[in-house]
Amino acid sequence: MSAVFESALKQSIETTRHNLRALEEFPESFQQGAWKPIEKERAAGHWVDGFWTGLLWLAYAHTGDPSLRAGAERWTNKLAHMKTSTGTHDLGFIFYLSHVLAGRLTNDAAWFDNAMEAAYTLIKRYNPRGEYLQAWDDDGIRKWAGRTNIDLMMNLALLYWASDRAGDAEPADIATQHARASRLALVRGDGSTAHVADFDPDSGLLIRREQYQGYSHDSCWSRGQAWALYGFATCYRHTGIPAFLTTAGALADYTIRHLPADLVPFWDYNSPHIPDTYRDSSAAAVTVCGLLELAAVDSKNAPRWTEFAKRILDSLCENYLIRNAGGPSSLLRDGARSVPANLMEHGLIYGDYYFLEALTAFTRPDIYRRALDVQIVPVEASE
Ligand code: GLY
Repeated sequence: MSAVFESALKQSIETTRHNLRALEEFPESFQQGAWKPIEKERAAGHWVDGFWTGLLWLAYAHTGDPSLRAGAERWTNKLAHMKTSTGTHDLGFIFYLSHVLAGRLTNDAAWFDNAMEAAYTLIKRYNPRGEYLQAWDDDGIRKWAGRTNIDLMMNLALLYWASDRAGDAEPADIATQHARASRLALVRGDGSTAHVADFDPDSGLLIRREQYQGYSHDSCWSRGQAWALYGFATCYRHTGIPAFLTTAGALADYTIRHLPADLVPFWDYNSPHIPDTYRDSSAAAVTVCGLLELAAVDSKNAPRWTEFAKRILDSLCENYLIRNAGGPSSLLRDGARSVPANLMEHGLIYGDYYFLEALTAFTRPDIYRRALDVQIVPVEASE
């Protein structure tokens, strides 16, 4: 396997060790030489927190190092209290990359109990009229009961996992209904995605599509596109429903058609300011993992998806990896949390997690399979 990936992996694990020694709060963005939590006033338990535990668990799986395992356990335990939190749609991100990975990588099924409870908490956000999982809650000013978003597709893996383990179809059925509704509401005919769908929560009818993190309501926010690609491929893997495979393929094609020369997306594929605007390295990292998930279930096109995944990862290693950090650092530079909110040019913990997931797929497919239950298509198939 590529010496570039082996060296990036080594360096990523080294930096993760530095971060483990230094961090006192769950990290979100790396700016001006330091990790920052997402917002000071929030208690532990935010959508980004599972990415830090996911990094620790993968680093442990690569090394077998007991100190990385102890760190992964300590930070995973800090998230347990979220299992009954009905106020977030992101329990999938949080528990899949903490407790589910923990159970799989330690062979200790006790970790699964909290993840199972979290899955049943998450499905309380299901609106059976619109057949979607609600993204946000009313905040006293705005009414959010009708909103769902494309990011939520990434929370469905927890529901499929829970159904498989519990032998209860309900979480998986809700995941599948949500994916169907998202496909109709958020995926456009050209294979691009909108960020948010606004339904009438009483009738379940779609009112409009919106964009909060992208350039405009008609544009395509690149990280949202990557969440969708990965999420629909996961749904196909669990259900075999052909429409999910077609959709994931269309999303991948759109992505590939819109990548710039260095294959790392700008923050919105349709920003009129390209090329004089910001990259989002996190969108690139999620796209690599989404393409690999798609390759695993789409044997006909697998060589193409795997080849693009490899080329994007090569570019991240060559142009965006922070080399020889020698202390706490993000792995990647140039993430864009939200350009409309003026939060860009940072390292991002989710970009880092998916970067390590992607490196794991290419360097240690056995670990990737054990952690994520996905069989990577050998890259030789595309060479
Ligand atoms: N899930 C929120 C984001 O991608 O920014």
